[in-house]
Amino acid sequence: MDSLVVALGLSTCSCGVGAYLLLGMCDHSSPTHDGTLSPECKADSSPLDHQPGPFPGIVDILGAGGGLLEYRASLLAGKGFAVMALAYYNYEDLPKSLENLHLEYFEEAVNYLLNHPQVKGPGVGLLGISKGGELCLSMASLLKGITAAVIINGSVVRVGGNLHYKGSGPFPGIIDIFGIGGGLLEYRASLLAGHGFATLALAYYDFNDLPKKFDVIHLEYFEEAVCYMLQHAQIKGPCIGLLGISLGADICLSMASFLKNISATVSINGSGFSGDRVIHYKDSNIPPLGHDLRRVKVAFSGLLDIVDVRNDIVGGCENPCMIPIEKAQGPILFIVGQDDHNRRSEFYAQIASERLQAHGKEKPQIISYPGAGHFIEPPYFPMCPASLQTFLDKPVMWGGEPRAHSKAQVDAWKQIITFFTKHLGPSPKL
Ligand SMILES: *[C@@H]1O[C@H](CO)[C@@H](O)[C@H](O)[C@H]1NC(C)=O
Ligand SMILES: *[C@@H]1O[C@H](CO)[C@@H](O)[C@H](O)[C@H]1NC(C)=O
Ligand SMILES: *[C@@H]1O[C@H](CO)[C@@H](O)[C@H](O)[C@H]1NC(C)=O
Repeated sequence: MDSLVVALGLSTCSCGVGAYLLLGMCDHSSPTHDGTLSPECKADSSPLDHQPGPFPGIVDILGAGGGLLEYRASLLAGKGFAVMALAYYNYEDLPKSLENLHLEYFEEAVNYLLNHPQVKGPGVGLLGISKGGELCLSMASLLKGITAAVIINGSVVRVGGNLHYKGSGPFPGIIDIFGIGGGLLEYRASLLAGHGFATLALAYYDFNDLPKKFDVIHLEYFEEAVCYMLQHAQIKGPCIGLLGISLGADICLSMASFLKNISATVSINGSGFSGDRVIHYKDSNIPPLGHDLRRVKVAFSGLLDIVDVRNDIVGGCENPCMIPIEKAQGPILFIVGQDDHNRRSEFYAQIASERLQAHGKEKPQIISYPGAGHFIEPPYFPMCPASLQTFLDKPVMWGGEPRAHSKAQVDAWKQIITFFTKHLGPSPKL
């Protein structure tokens, strides 16, 4: 016999029948080992120094075949780890299907190990293959007390079935809208979802069967998205939040002004104006402010600077091209880059503030970042100093000084999460 493995399973494990705890035992490379069980090689001796435990703990999870497989745990136990082989379905009285797994079950297993006198804390490790690897990734992401995880051929997405955890919905809802680049960008929505918000990344043109171009912004399309969110079982009503950048920000401001059940809006470099397109909702049309390309400047680099192309705002905050933001039922957070070369977003935010106050509303929160450009993205995204502007079909500069812009991105993200948490209610703790 090469090694001794003791199964402390079933009867002593509180976390369900589907688990065996294996404490690993003797060092077969020990000089005293002669092929028979040496006196010091006892069930509770650790392999290296022949001292009793505690041993480092590992939870071992196999794949979608189900049942309880102990061989890998046994082999690991032979190397001096306290290993729990954990079944999670299709075993004894465990569920017969993978449709609805609950992370609490796995949490209990981790806690069982952490509290076991033979397991050395402060954390435990995880080993998973295939579906088990996927589960280990979720455990490592959401549970406390996991210090290392090995994933063999796991997937980073859930391949099938639902995994529930105590934070499971309903969640506060947010619709996330990008700018003139079109298409569907999901990264910001994914990041928000990681903070417990049910987030809809909403494309509105140049994606699948959506139009390739548009001259009128029909708010009815966006209203449908709001209704979809509000009737969704995983979304906590009665209101949702909006997050938009650039043209997406102006769409969000229009939605907040005309549609119901919007309780918080974040505008990143929005203008508060209908820029180059009519904004239409039912009987209302907001005419575009328009621009004059003769005001395009060419920078030394050859890039275009379009910061001054928009027409003057005659009449200030009562200009008819302005979005009637005073109708918005919830608060608006304006985030602006002072070095925005796409538009004078700080100036626009000031006008928006004037309009709100002129209509007896509270002064909105404006967070203005020196040295930040137009595209204020989530933290640690590279700054985009210039790119092809789809409207002009020419390379234009967006502004921003890398260091200041990067710092602004880190801070702006925190402010956005705080704002939504305050006005949409806290998300279930993830
Ligand atoms: C890898 O995992 C996937 C599921 O995540 C499974 O379908 C596939 O059979 C696995 N391959 C191997 C070699 O284990
Ligand atoms: C919209 O908000 C109102 C007032 O808070 C609420 O009564 C209504 O149920 C909400 N509508 C939906 C579809 O959630
Ligand atoms: C701000 O948004 C406007 C509206 O789409 C856009 O044209 C401009 O390029 C943006 N500026 C920045 C700095 O993002």
